[in-house]
Amino acid sequence: MSAILKANWSYPTTVWAGPGRIAELPAACARLGITRPLLVTDEGLRDAPMVRAARELVPTTVIFSRVRGNPVAANIDEGLAAFRSGGHDGVIAFGGGSALDAGKVIAFMSGQKRPLWDFEDIGDWWTRADPRGIAAVVAVPTTAGTGSEVGRAGVVVNEATHQKKIIFHPRMMPGVVIADPELTVGLPPAITAATGMDAFVHCFEAYCAPGFHPLADGIALEGLRLIQSYLPRACQDGRDLEARSRMLAAASMGATAFQKGLGGVHAIAHPVGAHFNTHHGLTNAVLLPYLIVHNRAAIAPQLPVIARTLSLTGEPFAALLSWVLEFRKQLSIPHSLADIGVTLRNPDTIGQEAALDPSAAGNPRPTAAADYARIFRSAVKGDLELAG
Ligand SMILES: NC(=O)c1ccc[n+]([C@@H]2O[C@H](COP(=O)([O-])OP(=O)(O)OC[C@H]3O[C@@H](n4cnc5c(N)ncnc54)[C@H](O)[C@@H]3O)[C@@H](O)[C@H]2O)c1
Ligand SMILES: [Fe+2]
Repeated sequence: MSAILKANWSYPTTVWAGPGRIAELPAACARLGITRPLLVTDEGLRDAPMVRAARELVPTTVIFSRVRGNPVAANIDEGLAAFRSGGHDGVIAFGGGSALDAGKVIAFMSGQKRPLWDFEDIGDWWTRADPRGIAAVVAVPTTAGTGSEVGRAGVVVNEATHQKKIIFHPRMMPGVVIADPELTVGLPPAITAATGMDAFVHCFEAYCAPGFHPLADGIALEGLRLIQSYLPRACQDGRDLEARSRMLAAASMGATAFQKGLGGVHAIAHPVGAHFNTHHGLTNAVLLPYLIVHNRAAIAPQLPVIARTLSLTGEPFAALLSWVLEFRKQLSIPHSLADIGVTLRNPDTIGQEAALDPSAAGNPRPTAAADYARIFRSAVKGDLELAG
């Protein structure tokens, strides 16, 4: 028997969690003063019954679905044109991280005068934005992974430079999140596993990132524990609403925790995703053990706590590494980047871009471009020793 988990949270934003809560979409729009929403989703979900049902709940809704996985700037431009010409006053961001990010960035850009790349997550560039020009967002996640529904950033690929850029503003945090596990029951096991591992890596990297942030640390550890217990259940039986509910919570916890920082897994996953269009969570899931090996000495203080949280016994590094490898196997996640279509075409470029990625700042071991290139090569080849 699955428990029915229903709650309202006001942390880190207003979250309405529980099965069936999508019925409250009209109330969510009303709360934010949205009368004519643009519902931003992706091509894969456009014709899904849940998107049609959402539209019927708020009949003034117009759907915009020209968003691909790993959204590109052209998707944002087109969505912005639809938002402006349709006279919309808010966004319903509906889908996985790709749709959520696109919806958030379209709402953010709706009243800005400067171009998108002026708002990249560099220093205080976000202060360039006019906060009055940011439209309200209701976020409705349909995957449990990125946590974008409670995040203050959107990831967009710059096709001209083949780089994934993080667009950041504190007010990009959605005003209301509807976290309805019933919307995730149709997610196939492979995407469930890959997105769930994204959340795991968010928690893991946040916990290991340097800095004083006990709030983030506590959330990250509980997130790891939830994912260990419930991700296999969600993959085995997609209709297990308790597992789906707890995974949605864990995904939001990952993104809440990574306000502290991310690390080398994401630093490499971003250029790999931009150059090879691999799925973000899957890329992270493959990369995680290579970065655990690389960061071994730097994360020595964190390893016993993580091992204890996951109820692992024995020497913490060995126990964690073998558990991660086994967990990945159980979830049918491959061991090498080559297995997901990544080649050794441009290791030095990947290394340089990884070192410049904002996530690299959170890596516990100082890591230069040449080291990132080596770790990338090790992950393509599936050679864990080379990562050390
Ligand atoms: N903003 C952030 O903080 C943040 C964090 C991590 C990742 N990201 C970004 O999020 C994106 C990845 O998001 P994702 O992992 O959720 O994948 P996704 O949004 O790209 O979706 C993957 C696939 O799953 C399908 N799908 C989504 N929900 C479904 C459902 N309920 N049933 C059936 N199919 C469904 C989609 O149509 C798509 O084909 C990347 O662009 C990544 O860079 C953002
Ligand atoms: Fe991620």
